[in-house]
Amino acid sequence: MSSAKVIDGASIASQLRAEVAKQVTRQVEQGRRAPCLAVILVGENAASEIYVKNKHKACREVGILSEVYRLASACTEQELLDLIDMLNANASVDGILLQLPIPEHISADHVFERIDPKKDVDGFHPYNIGCLAQRRPEVRPCTPLGVMHLLKHIRCDFKKSHAVVVGSSNIVGRPMALELLLAGATVSVCHKFTQDLESHVQQADILISAVGKPNLIKGTWIKSGATVIDIGIYRLADGSLTGDVEFEKARQHASYITPVPGGVGPMTVAMLLQNTLQCFGFALPHQRA
Ligand code: GUN
Repeated sequence: MSSAKVIDGASIASQLRAEVAKQVTRQVEQGRRAPCLAVILVGENAASEIYVKNKHKACREVGILSEVYRLASACTEQELLDLIDMLNANASVDGILLQLPIPEHISADHVFERIDPKKDVDGFHPYNIGCLAQRRPEVRPCTPLGVMHLLKHIRCDFKKSHAVVVGSSNIVGRPMALELLLAGATVSVCHKFTQDLESHVQQADILISAVGKPNLIKGTWIKSGATVIDIGIYRLADGSLTGDVEFEKARQHASYITPVPGGVGPMTVAMLLQNTLQCFGFALPHQRA
């Protein structure tokens, strides 16, 4: 039986990071200051600590300055809003990233809306999501943007494709559907109320799963020749990471598939760097196309 090509997100992301590094160096050589990303971490969350450490390291490697602001989990919404106001007003901060999750007593909607849309490196502000929805994207959410980069890399023909997105979160599933629509795909979105997930998945030329439930997507559901993008990430009891898709079985039907880890994850970080550069005022050539 044929086996899908595995999309090497780590290597594609590494090329992108090199491109960002080159542009940062060029800007600094021309006398500009280095771009600067402010990351806000509220409370203690083991996964967030790792994400923030990885983002900080990735910034440093490409010459982007990164500052981490920590607030205690008991901080008030007002204290967080004050910090955001201070960073919005600071002309030497280009990007602001508020790491999720935040404590439940703080409204994520209020605080994300407070971030200046021009510094919104996550692309979560309603203004930026609205721009994407109205086909004039500004700053775009990192994970969906990273997936689009992978799909373009394998020369995906969006206009001839039925794309099925599984998961409808504000930060991944929904903006993912908007990106695919913008690229000309016919898009279906499945979510927790969807009846008969299997019948939808079977129709997908491009399947994108962003749920975080191991083995949710059975390998036998995959349409022959489909492209399978697994955004799910879940840590098993033995400490290893896995996605939503039965990888070994799915790869017998698909033509392309992303692994977990090493697929979409590294692309999200690369897109954050690219977005920070964009907020600094410099778009990479492929962003302008
Ligand atoms: N937590 C998990 N994923 C993300 C993300 O993409 N952005 C932010 N800000 N927090 C997250």
